[in-house]
This record gives sequence, structure tokens and C-alpha cells, in this order.
Amino acid sequence: MTDPAPARLVVLISGSGSNLQALLEAAKDPAYGAEVVAVGADRDGIAGLEIAAAAGVPTFVDSVKAYETRDDWDAALTAHVAAHRPDLVISAGFLKLAGKQFLDAFGDRYINTHNALLPSFPGIHGPRDALAYGVKLAGATLFFVDAGVDTGPIIAQVSVPVLDDDTEETLTERIKVAERAQLVEFVGRLVRDGWTIENRKVRIP
Ligand code: GRF
Repeated sequence: MTDPAPARLVVLISGSGSNLQALLEAAKDPAYGAEVVAVGADRDGIAGLEIAAAAGVPTFVDSVKAYETRDDWDAALTAHVAAHRPDLVISAGFLKLAGKQFLDAFGDRYINTHNALLPSFPGIHGPRDALAYGVKLAGATLFFVDAGVDTGPIIAQVSVPVLDDDTEETLTERIKVAERAQLVEFVGRLVRDGWTIENRKVRIP
């Protein structure tokens, strides 16, 4: 029997793209079962877009400012992602909340990686907030996106220690190393094995 076609991933980014890079590396192995078919960003001039271009992956940029209303932006982002027929859409450091049209189209297959152990420290300053609170464990959460801010069903979590002399930068970096490995592992498992969600519980058979 021939192998099924690799699952189609669209990755959304806003920054350095280290998670994207890890997915591109993993996808070089046919056994991984997925390929990155497009990368979308909400801003130009970011390293992640260069990583995509260097890998020969098509890119698009939808900046909120380029549209008259947030709904128009949401419609454009939805159309650009849909054009690549994704099996999974991955927010990897994408700093925008998708709107209703996007969630209507992809809410059953849109995942996000967040650099905190949810439900603690949602929002864009996860490591900073964790450090300020004084927690001893920090980490990353992979989850299905819903209409809230970092509130959707959790796929996986990984923890790292918070050290006494940590700064926001050192903790952020430690989290990112664990976060990348988790993202690669679980994207692969999701596309290869599928999943169910019942009462918020995500199960991968
Ligand atoms: C990740 O740690 C993500 O959780 C946070 O931003 C980082 C993105 O890093 N929101 P990169 O662009 O993949 O390097």
C-alpha cells in the first residue's frame, strides 16, 4: 500500500519562527506525515518569513492595518489560509486573535502553542508573568483555539523549572526549547493518528 499524502500544515507566525523551523526540519522525514504548505504572518520583515522563503514555502502577509475593519482582515486571513487547503493550521508565535470567520472555517483544526502552563498566565507575557508570580514550574501548552484568549481544549503540556537567577530572557529560552519539541511531537501525532475532543478532553488514539 502506498503511504497517504502528507497532511497539509499552514503555519501562522509573527516573529523569529523557531517553532516553524522545527516543524520544517521534522517534515523533511516522510515518516513524519506532514508538510508545511504555506506560512502566513501579520507583519512583514520578520525572521520567520525568511525561514519560510529559504525553505521554498509560499508565504503571505495579512497585516491588520492593511484592512479597514478587523472583520475584513479576518476574511482575508481566512481566504488566504483556505487557499492552501490545510489539514491543520498552527499558530506558532502568531500574535493575533483570529476572528469569527476564521474560527468558523478552521476552529476544528486550529492549534496554538503558548509559552505558559495554562490556565495560568494567558496572554502575550507568559514567562514574564510566571516569573513575577514566583512559580517554580513554567512551561508550554499546546491547545485547540476557541473564541477565548488561550482557553481552548489542551492537547499537551510540558514543564520546565524556574531557577532562582532566571530573567525573563533565560526562562523564555528554556521554555522555547521544550515548547518546540512538544509542538513537533504532537503535530506529528495529531496528523498521523487523528484526535477526539469530548468535554474539553483531547485524546489522540
Ligand atoms: C513561542 O514561545 C510562543 O509560545 C510565543 O512566542 C514564541 C514564538 O517563537 N507566543 P518563534 O517565533 O516560533 O521563535
